[in-house]
Amino acid sequence: MPKVTIDGVTVEVEPGTTILNAARKIGGEVVPPAMCYYSKLKGSGGKCRVCLVEISKGSDANPNPMPKLQASCCTPIADGMEVKNMTSPKVQDMRKGVVEFLLINHPLDCPICDQAGECDLQNLTYDYGASTTRYQEERRTFDKIDIGDKIQLHMTRCILCYRCTYVADQLTDNRVHGIVNRGDAAEISTYIQNVVSNEMSGNMIDVCPVGALTDKTFRFKSRVWFLKPYDAHRNCTKCSGKTTVWMFGNEIYRVTVRKDVNHEVESDENGKVEWICNDCRFEHKAKEDWTIEGPRKMEGWSVINQGKYMKQTAQVEIDTDPRILTGRGEDRKAISMNGTNFNVPEKNLSDGN
Ligand code: SF4
Ligand code: FES
Repeated sequence: MPKVTIDGVTVEVEPGTTILNAARKIGGEVVPPAMCYYSKLKGSGGKCRVCLVEISKGSDANPNPMPKLQASCCTPIADGMEVKNMTSPKVQDMRKGVVEFLLINHPLDCPICDQAGECDLQNLTYDYGASTTRYQEERRTFDKIDIGDKIQLHMTRCILCYRCTYVADQLTDNRVHGIVNRGDAAEISTYIQNVVSNEMSGNMIDVCPVGALTDKTFRFKSRVWFLKPYDAHRNCTKCSGKTTVWMFGNEIYRVTVRKDVNHEVESDENGKVEWICNDCRFEHKAKEDWTIEGPRKMEGWSVINQGKYMKQTAQVEIDTDPRILTGRGEDRKAISMNGTNFNVPEKNLSDGN
């Protein structure tokens, strides 16, 4: 099995594995962020550039470094490759630049956005965003488009990651929306004001990394950090029926897929991806409709875990560059700082309740 070293941590992976997936195998701070790549959606990745990394050694056979930063989500590893993510000043500077570009047209409306608290762009902005903007030109605006009674589209928040179009392509048999126009006029739209109504279309909401697609049945009802997530299931003929229900007291406020540590929908033990149907998502908000299994374990960085401790289960020694301790937010700094040791949580999970 080929070996790759990322930020000083060496891991063996299957041939053909991408750098991002090799880093996910290690876990913790060495994993580059991803806004457009989604391992459960074929063809995704290569659009947002937040996952770029420095390849300081190409491979054992050809040790030359790569002259430019590479997208870790679509670059396969080679035996002996050495990669720098958090330990590369170039990568840190580049990521700040990419976030600045992403925020040029993205409104800072987190206080009223339903995605706040679980938005990848919000997290990225806390980690790499500048406190001021240099942008003075007029920002993009769009005509409002109604894409149906269940999903709300806010085009100004869209970062054109294409994930929702892959969901429509790969989970439904009649995609009615896509990205139309080019350059700064590019936008998500439906063909001739169609509505997105396929029974699996709600999964677009879960893959959207920002608040561009939100659940109309949950809109403005509660901030996510006031809700408690529970694993729940019901007998469903259209999907696995395995979901996370988000409750306030005895009331179910919303239903979503179960997400893993990479913010992606979970797969079952046979590798089948557990997307959920619109019926489970939008039409079953009564507690009696569900068998509640117990509190959902949320991934460590989730806003649901604020003020809670994470269990450290593995420790890997690396040649610590001070940047590894300064590249992320204060909370994560405390977790990773341990003299010259760098803690890599095996399972980055803590109880969401
Ligand atoms: S609406 Fe969301 S999922 Fe679709 S392209 Fe825009 S950001 Fe990506
Ligand atoms: S996650 Fe790699 S380019 Fe977007």
